[in-house]
Amino acid sequence: MQDFTPQVERRRRLQARMDKGLAFVPTAPERLRNRDSDYLYRFDSYFYYLTGFPEPEAALVLIAGSEPRSLLFCRDRNPDRELWEGLRFGPEAARERFGVDEAHAFSKLDEMMPALLAEQPALYYAPGADAAWDTRVLGWLNRVRAQARSGLGAPSDIRDVRVALDEMRLFKDDSEIAIMRRAAEISCDAHLGAMRATRPGRTEYEIEAQLLYAFRRAGAQFPAYWPVVAGGANACVLHYRDNGAALRDGELLLVDAGCELDGYASDITRTWPVGGRFSAVQREIYELVLAAQRAAIASVAPGRRWDEPHAAAVRTLSQGFVDLGLCQGPLERVIESEDYKRFYMHRTGHWLGLDVHDAGEYKKDGEWRALEPGMMLTVEPGCYIRPAEGVPEQFWNTGVRIEDDVLVTPSGNEVITASTPKSIAEIESLVGRE
Ligand code: GLY
Ligand code: MN
Ligand code: MN
Repeated sequence: MQDFTPQVERRRRLQARMDKGLAFVPTAPERLRNRDSDYLYRFDSYFYYLTGFPEPEAALVLIAGSEPRSLLFCRDRNPDRELWEGLRFGPEAARERFGVDEAHAFSKLDEMMPALLAEQPALYYAPGADAAWDTRVLGWLNRVRAQARSGLGAPSDIRDVRVALDEMRLFKDDSEIAIMRRAAEISCDAHLGAMRATRPGRTEYEIEAQLLYAFRRAGAQFPAYWPVVAGGANACVLHYRDNGAALRDGELLLVDAGCELDGYASDITRTWPVGGRFSAVQREIYELVLAAQRAAIASVAPGRRWDEPHAAAVRTLSQGFVDLGLCQGPLERVIESEDYKRFYMHRTGHWLGLDVHDAGEYKKDGEWRALEPGMMLTVEPGCYIRPAEGVPEQFWNTGVRIEDDVLVTPSGNEVITASTPKSIAEIESLVGRE
């Protein structure tokens, strides 16, 4: 049975940060896909971070101060609905299992919230995240205000609960790191399978199917984002979604795919030759991106600034673009004028966690923040060369990205996706070898 001690600990930490007041954190609604078919349900990341509770129609209330309390609102048991949709915990079992002080029926929210809010100095909430919740929360506040003559006061201080939660989520605890390691391992295996399954004549969607199968077979509930499986020129479309083309000998295949396991994302990109051998030009570009990625990873360590890995990648790539005749030197001019952006137009990474582009500020007081142990980020430089005047034709339609997931450790960093092959020799020994 899952241990919910980390969630109890996170709730305590949020209460300590709040000092006084009440936090209201609802989960995500179920969403219709078409007519009466739903999208597969995915909980809200903040709510799940604090509770581990997986059902829709649920909300957490945390009261801070001298008498801290945690209240979970969730669906009542309902034998009729459970016959169709499966088990619901119901408040009684949920209280026990998820370690909250109280649990109540979700249907009691409107009745109970005004009383809970009365006399609280502050409300911590995520304004603007969901218009329906905004209306409902304002309704509760107005109901408390309407009782002013009975001496009740509504919170005068409305704060964004995400400020504290984003900062907490930025530092992964041991249980989160353990899940993320396993997610990384599953995604690594999926990439290995995809490399083995690649050969001329196969299609992008066959490789996509291979990845999704590998995720689910290993117990991951979802892809963390829809996989990008981009052959040839498609690799130069940064958010390519079609995954519908045939794979051709002589072209590269760029695969950006990661699973979501127990709420946590992994995010890996590898690029390999469809026919199993890099051409001389592909090799030059690939080695350049790999060198940029290695330089960026070497800049991930406590005390280094968020933008240092990006700066390292840009410098390596820009020098390469000059050497290959893609940009005109000198190097400093290419960097300062951002001429390199013709071939490298995105940033080198992002925080990773419950969301693939995870919560957490990148700057503090206007400065790029320093990396600290427990932070998890991606390092993902690339090079995308579209047909254009002045660009030597042999480079056209070459797209390469290499992406790993990196944990900041006390002594430097650990690449948790390191077992996904990325050297040319390793890749060439795997592609097409089913
Ligand atoms: N797969 C999304 C990203 O790399 O940011
Ligand atoms: Mn990424
Ligand atoms: Mn990615």
